[in-house]
Amino acid sequence: MPGTVVIGSQFGDEGKGKVTDFYSDKAHIVVRYQGGNNAGHTVVVNGKTFKFNLLPSGITQGKRILIGAGVVLDPRVLKKELDNFEKTADIGIDPRTHIVMPWHNLLDEGREESRGKTKIGTTKRGIGPCYADKAERIGIRFEDLVDENRLKEKINEVYPIKKAILEKVYNKKVEFTEETIFEEYSKLGNGFKKYLCDVSLEVCTALDEKKNVVFEGAQGVFLDNDFGTYPFVTSSHPISGGVTTGVGMPVNRIERIIAIVKAYTTRVGFGPFPTELENEIGDHLIKKGCEFGTTTGRQRRVGWLDLPMMRTSMRFNGFTELAITKIDVLDGLEKIKVCTSYEINGKDIQYFPYSNKGIAQAKAIYKEFEGFKITGKEKTYEDLDENARIYLEFIEKEIGCPIKLISIGPGREETILK
Ligand code: IMP
Ligand code: MG
Repeated sequence: MPGTVVIGSQFGDEGKGKVTDFYSDKAHIVVRYQGGNNAGHTVVVNGKTFKFNLLPSGITQGKRILIGAGVVLDPRVLKKELDNFEKTADIGIDPRTHIVMPWHNLLDEGREESRGKTKIGTTKRGIGPCYADKAERIGIRFEDLVDENRLKEKINEVYPIKKAILEKVYNKKVEFTEETIFEEYSKLGNGFKKYLCDVSLEVCTALDEKKNVVFEGAQGVFLDNDFGTYPFVTSSHPISGGVTTGVGMPVNRIERIIAIVKAYTTRVGFGPFPTELENEIGDHLIKKGCEFGTTTGRQRRVGWLDLPMMRTSMRFNGFTELAITKIDVLDGLEKIKVCTSYEINGKDIQYFPYSNKGIAQAKAIYKEFEGFKITGKEKTYEDLDENARIYLEFIEKEIGCPIKLISIGPGREETILK
């Protein structure tokens, strides 16, 4: 499996944590390469639930874990996650990784409040403002965090600008000073110095040695900063291409691109959603699927599986296989629908429109399937209810990519390989 990337193919929360954990079993290294602690990954091992925002899920398998340059890292969160994890983590962090500073959280909040009607529903973790600083070339990187002199210089350079914006533009009270920030962050940096690692070099060397490396994506394809439903997107690149810029490795190092596809669709935060259900079927999916955000606890919006979206996801990402999750959540529904195309201005459209204006005009066209039973005891594909197999095989055919894994529950053992 040398280079395997695991991608959330929809709006995030497809169950990447569980699937990455599953594939991490055979991995030597597990890498995160984009996003930050806006992500929330849940892994259930032997009945025990682990929730991570920043650390790759592979940590539960005791693997070497790496944080690549494309990630934005909040050191307070890293410390907390490492402290909460009972075993010692074998972790490396790229010096180029940008650091989320306290002003980023406040700016995220201030920006969101000032948006009025066009709120995005960010996780308020400072992710957008941190990526903005990176693009503006005033960011603080991990190499600065672990070097006291550089850190002091950087804080002194950036702090007055951020304080002025926060107070004058967003009317925020800034309670931290250059000194309090330096004191706290230099301490954090000193503690993390031992993790400094050229992730690009380590990953490429490992791949040269034919070691298995799993790259764990965060968020989902339609939250991609360029190809998602802009502006209702995150600030990084969850599409598969994000792995090369997020790690510092050529595109041809990836052999497997695994799409995590939830058997229905969910979205947390605002933005278009053509198959959204606001009825008792939606309530069933929310309740049975525990559709509440891992990071913010917000109730997720839910809807039927959307094939125009999935065909588009396939085009953006070049998936080599699909992992279908949460099929058990559909158990109990009499009929199950799948959106097969959109009707836009009287035309049949097979793909997700490139603009929100187009999406707003889309009427979802559905195909109906008979409901099925999932007991959670199924071990092989053949054990699955025939109606479930009909549903899965239709998806496979329409997306044009084979299903290799089916998840029938949150536990590691509730997994069927096809
Ligand atoms: P941000 O990434 O915090 O800036 O939030 C931007 C949008 O992405 C909001 O709609 C969030 O709810 C959404 N979002 C960010 N991270 C995740 C995630 O891991 N899963 C699902 N949605 C996410
Ligand atoms: Mg999540």
